[in-house]
Amino acid sequence: MSRIHVTTTLNGEETDYLCNAEDTLLDVLRDDLELTGSKEGCASGDCGACSVVVDGRLVCSCLMLGAEAEDRKIETIEGMADGETLHPLQQKFIEKAALQCGICTPGILVAAKNLLERNDNPTEEEVRYWLAGNLCRCTGYDKIIRAVMETAADLRGAA
Ligand code: FES
Ligand code: FES
Repeated sequence: MSRIHVTTTLNGEETDYLCNAEDTLLDVLRDDLELTGSKEGCASGDCGACSVVVDGRLVCSCLMLGAEAEDRKIETIEGMADGETLHPLQQKFIEKAALQCGICTPGILVAAKNLLERNDNPTEEEVRYWLAGNLCRCTGYDKIIRAVMETAADLRGAA
């Protein structure tokens, strides 16, 4: 079967690739584009480890086909830092030890950034609700939630 040619914008850069009709976006990112920050935890839309942003919306890349990325704007964890400078959320997760094994961390960071772009002053309940689709088997969530809340406060203070 012939492969599908896809042109998309990935972390701000025009990118093209060939994929099979059944390849998920997660397959393409990890196996073809060597962007292995997005993780496969469940491959069924339940864990959020594969979270990316597509045209501003948070998406499980295991539930989207690579072919569906045509003409979209895709943001992955690899686009979060600005060169050597970590995004404030990334820095805060390190400072607050808001990760252990790190498998869930890229997805949580992508999701949290998307939240703060929509709402710069979320309540704890809103943060917990927004991140409810991102499962972590290690941290117990409190440090994650606190890191997101503190980053939001820091960014408001810096604005
Ligand atoms: S791998 Fe996509 S939601 Fe778990
Ligand atoms: S830090 Fe291990 S799954 Fe979240």
